[in-house]
This record gives sequence, C-alpha cells and structure tokens, in this order.
Amino acid sequence: MNKNSPLISLCYTSNTTEEISFLGSLRLLAHSFLNNQKYNITGLLIYKNNQFAQVIEGDEDAIERIWSKIQRDTRHKDIQLLSKEPIVHRSFTKWSMLFPESDKVVEYFPDMVEAVKDLEMPVNHPLFKILAK
Ligand SMILES: Cc1cc2nc3c(=O)[nH]c(=O)nc-3n(C[C@H](O)[C@H](O)[C@H](O)COP(=O)(O)O)c2cc1C
Repeated sequence: MNKNSPLISLCYTSNTTEEISFLGSLRLLAHSFLNNQKYNITGLLIYKNNQFAQVIEGDEDAIERIWSKIQRDTRHKDIQLLSKEPIVHRSFTKWSMLFPESDKVVEYFPDMVEAVKDLEMPVNHPLFKILAK
C-alpha cells in the first residue's frame, strides 16, 4: 500500500454482453474477491437484470490498475463512469458482491462467504441514489 496515494472512490454501471450464469458469477466473485483483498479494495458489485453497478474504493494506484482492467473486460459493455473522486473515509469495510442466488454461495463455497454475507449498502452512497431512480 502506498501511503502517498490518495483514497479514491469510483462508481460505474454497465450492461452484460451476455447473460452471466451462476458459475460465471462465481468465477467473477472469486477472482475479484481475492484480487480486491490483496490490493485493499473495498466496495460492492451488484449484478441484476443483466446490469452491473459497482463501487470500488482504495488507493489511487490500485483503483487505476483495476479500473483499466474492468474497462477492458469483454463480459460487459456500455460502461458509464458515474463518479471518481477523492474520499476521506471509506463507505465500505470490505468488498462484496450481490447476484442472483448469491445466497447459495454460503452453502456450497464456505470460503467465499465473506464476499456475499452482511452486504453493506450505505443508503446515502451516490450509487444507491442512482439505482433508486
Ligand atoms: C462488472 C465487472 C466487475 C469487475 N470487478 C472487479 C473487481 O472489483 N476486482 C477485480 O480484481 N476484478 C474485477 N473484474 C474482473 C477484471 O475485469 C479482470 O478480469 C481481472 O481483474 C483480471 O485479473 P488478473 O489480471 O489478476 O487476471 C470485474 C469484471 C467485471 C465484468
């Protein structure tokens, strides 16, 4: 972690290129969860109705690195950056993901439970104001 790198919050929405199966969601969950833990990225990814909405928070260099990968990912399109701004405090204490039947993960993949349980949805976060529209 780089102490000189400011804390950034980035928020976007996108559409899937193809419907993502349960297995596909698991793959995305596992990869993102491990990566985000490694780079101390917190936030929330929501996959619903063939749309994604995500908030990621972390050091600017970590956010830039993952954001450039996310933008090049062919699993989604129509990516709309909603905000990218310095923050003083994180709104999320961990990274997690909500997707159809994500509650099944608890049953089948206990190692991944942290990523799908006790989802934090800070109601005042701009993403949720946008989703509520
Ligand atoms: C909607 C969406 C959200 C994603 N979110 C993350 C994320 O938060 N963290 C992450 O590491 N990868 C995320 N990915 C996956 C990245 O696009 C990319 O596949 C992955 O980071 C590659 O990691 P690697 O370079 O370690 O193989 C996301 C992909 C999609 C389609």
